[in-house]
Amino acid sequence: MTDVIIVPHLHAGGAAAATLLAAVLSQKPDMVLGVATGSTPLPIWSALAAMRLDMSRVSAFALDEYLDLPPGHPESYAAVVHREIAVPLGLNPRKVHTPDAQADLRDAPSAYESAIRAAGGIDVQVVGIGRNGHIGFNEPGSSLSGRTHIANLAAQTRRDNARFFESLDQVPTRCITQGVGTILDARRLILVASGRRKADAVAAALEGPVTASVPASALQLHPDVVAIVDEDAASRLSFADHYRMSAPHGDAA
Ligand code: PGA
Repeated sequence: MTDVIIVPHLHAGGAAAATLLAAVLSQKPDMVLGVATGSTPLPIWSALAAMRLDMSRVSAFALDEYLDLPPGHPESYAAVVHREIAVPLGLNPRKVHTPDAQADLRDAPSAYESAIRAAGGIDVQVVGIGRNGHIGFNEPGSSLSGRTHIANLAAQTRRDNARFFESLDQVPTRCITQGVGTILDARRLILVASGRRKADAVAAALEGPVTASVPASALQLHPDVVAIVDEDAASRLSFADHYRMSAPHGDAA
């Protein structure tokens, strides 16, 4: 089932998620961590980095990667994951994986699935959510059992991500993304969301029907999901009071 933890603000969410990840790491120093790019998870990585844990044995897999950027582009997720996650956390670069956008695209999706399998599967996957309910780059209409695949970015996602590029034209239109089915294979999922602009997507994902129109709603089918959302992102939840009463640790907020 989904545990929903409502925190006052994004930074409290980062600390709560980092605490969960540190607990898994203490049990399994070679854990397989699913990392997410985007702004919302950044406080997780900084809170985790501040704990100064030995993460040199951890393997990491990103959810997705842009296609059609030149190799080494600073906004490619390979570069973003290296800069914003792998370096601060002290991950071994050889154990950090993003889908290979420069490989033959007929092989890259299945190669990524094989790499995840060979690592033993993902222990904990961190996921953000798009305003349109996407997870990874699984935009509305994506198969809820899909595997890693080539996909097109929704127009809204390109507009939302234009802040990382000089102009909207420069935002890629294609990507390789873990499928929803791949994401659901993770043993545990931590969904993070912040801000009022995510409130409708969060409510639809956590409380609406399970539907391809809101790919994040598929998380309702997973037995071990923790959703960490700030007050603004939680503002459209119908059962917020119930979640507050049943918060697993009571003190997370
Ligand atoms: P954000 O991205 O954290 O930058 O809002 C989340 C997402 O689009 O999945």
